[in-house]
Amino acid sequence: MKITVVYGQNHKGSTYHVARMLAEKLDGEITEIFLPRDFDKFCVGCANCIMRDAKYCPHAEALQPLTQKLDEADVLILASPVYVYHVTGSMKAFLDHYGWRWMVHRPEHSMFRKQAVCITTAAGAGMKSTLKDMADSLWFWGVGKVYRYGLPVYAINYSHMSEKKKQKVDQKTTALAKKIKAREGKVQPSLKTKAFFTMMHLVRSKKPSDDADGTYWKQQGWTGSKRPWKD
Ligand SMILES: Cc1cc2nc3c(=O)[nH]c(=O)nc-3n(C[C@H](O)[C@H](O)[C@H](O)COP(=O)(O)O)c2cc1C
Repeated sequence: MKITVVYGQNHKGSTYHVARMLAEKLDGEITEIFLPRDFDKFCVGCANCIMRDAKYCPHAEALQPLTQKLDEADVLILASPVYVYHVTGSMKAFLDHYGWRWMVHRPEHSMFRKQAVCITTAAGAGMKSTLKDMADSLWFWGVGKVYRYGLPVYAINYSHMSEKKKQKVDQKTTALAKKIKAREGKVQPSLKTKAFFTMMHLVRSKKPSDDADGTYWKQQGWTGSKRPWKD
């Protein structure tokens, strides 16, 4: 099993330890991306990725190897501490670069068979909105199964986290790892994902277009009977 972990921070605090613990329990090959260390660009809003091709993004060269790491993984872990009720700016800037991959545009077919976990830690509040920041992208990328784990650590860093909390993290990550391993190779996207994709299929097959999105859907066979979770 290949696991790619994207951290919305460079430092190894509470969020890192929780995500790393889960990744290790999956007993696979772990690849880590630290933000902003491995990608520090902001979207410039040119929309070249959406209108033309991701290769025309001014940051394409830096982004491409990271895209490859996302695509090669069976399990994606997005982990960010809560910063003012949301993901870190680095995580947001990274996710902004994948607008072209949303189901309304040009989703990557392998996403529909992947599992993903969103992880966040907070001093006390803001986990729900932070998890949603990451889960929104994963869902719109078409990821088959998305889990969320938000933890109020009541601490400003990992060394201040209580032993009781650490035990809780251990139990929760063991349970999550068990679920993920049991589902490996059998992932099917939810009915909601299939329904949304089918709606896109109807729009694109009724109104064919030769723009970047239209051409891609046709090439994939999705304007016909092919579906990304079937092949
Ligand atoms: C800039 C900044 C903003 C933060 N905003 C919140 C917040 O909105 N709610 C909260 O409960 N904790 C907030 N915190 C605390 C962190 O989310 C919390 O300590 C988290 O566990 C840190 O994870 P880390 O050790 O991985 O950095 C904030 C911390 C920083 C540095």
